[in-house]
Formats: sequence, structure tokens, C-alpha cells
Amino acid sequence: MDGNGRWAKQRGKERLEGHFEGVESVRAITKASVELGIKYISFFAFSEENWNRSEAEVTGLMSLMLRAMKNELPLFLDNGISFRVIGNRGRLPKEVNDGIDNLESLTSGGTNMTLIIFMSYSGKWDIQQAAKRMAEAGSDNLEPFLATAGIPDPDLMIRTSGEERISNYMLWQLAYTEFVFTGTLWPDFRKDEYLAALEEYASRDRRFGKVK
Ligand code: IPE
Ligand code: MG
Repeated sequence: MDGNGRWAKQRGKERLEGHFEGVESVRAITKASVELGIKYISFFAFSEENWNRSEAEVTGLMSLMLRAMKNELPLFLDNGISFRVIGNRGRLPKEVNDGIDNLESLTSGGTNMTLIIFMSYSGKWDIQQAAKRMAEAGSDNLEPFLATAGIPDPDLMIRTSGEERISNYMLWQLAYTEFVFTGTLWPDFRKDEYLAALEEYASRDRRFGKVK
């Protein structure tokens, strides 16, 4: 999800207002995903690098996360969505961690779709923590130690706002993922754009390194 700050700036608003509007997009894309029968959707909400933003923005994003987790409980329960957070949880404030634990347990029975928020996540962090635990276990198979263990690798990654890079997202898991880049800023990214990205995905020829 990229472009919240620019969306706000274009309207002469504070960056946080862009993040507020971005939550509306998360809700719209979540609803559309359930309608479409998508089993897993993930949102890269906050990277390890994002801790370096101003204290005001970081605090604002943490309280936005807390509020959204409270507000969206009915949406998750009504639609059979199970909620997960993946990332370096040790860096998150206690109240955010408590809110996550609470929402994860309240929604754990959801079987329609798993919605994953990547918070304080970076792909390099994930590979490093997995390598450390793999070595401790005396294993040579990294996959079960990744923060995403048990979750299928993404079929499609959409990045908004015109930036065309991975920015330390799931470096391992994106090995064979299809990428769609759009210039639309995240707060403007809603159902129609999402359907267009899925159409684009459907037209791709996935060979996974093989010859068809
Ligand atoms: C994405 O929007 C949301 C987060 C990373 C929290 P940005 O905040 O990166 O918006 P721009 O890139 O400044 O427009
Ligand atoms: Mg950005």
C-alpha cells in the first residue's frame, strides 16, 4: 500500500489523513476479495524501515492500527475472515500487540479468507530470523521457520503509487509471484482497479521456470 502521503499532500492535508483514507481502501479490497473467493490477502502496512519516520507519524499509524482493529471486528466475523499479523512483533507497542492477540483469537474460526497485515516486517528480517532458528533446530529447510510458515506464497503482488520495487517485502516468498504496478495512489485504489489488476494477472502465463 503506497501513496497515502502523496494523496494527502495533493489535497493540502496532513499525511495521517492519507493513512485514514487508506484504511477505507483496505476495507474495500477486503470486501471484494471475500466476494471473489480469494483465500489469502495480505497488506504491507508498516515496514521495519518505517520506524525511521517522524515520531508523530509512527504514533499516528500505531493508533490508527489499534482503532481499525477495533472497528473491523464485525466485518471479519460477518465474513468468516481470520486475521493475522506478521512481522517483528517485539518492536510494536504493548497495546498494539494486545490488540493483535485479541483480534487473532476472536477471528481464529474464520474459514473463508485469511487477512494478513504485515507490521514491522521486512523480508531481510524474516530470512535472518528464520536462518537463526533453522540453525538452532539443526535443520537445513528454511521454509518452516519463515514468519509466513503455513501460508502459501503470493500469486500476485500489487504495488500502488507508481513505485516499481519490492522495498524489502517478502523477499523469499515472492520468488515466482506476478507483479502488477499501478500509478494509482493507495487511498484511490478501490474495487474497479483491483478487478483490473486481477484481469491482468489472469492474462499472465506462469511457467515457474519450466517450458510449456
Ligand atoms: C504508504 O503510504 C503507507 C505506509 C508506508 C504506512 P506512504 O506513507 O508511503 O505514502 P507516500 O509514499 O509518502 O506517498
Ligand atoms: Mg511510500
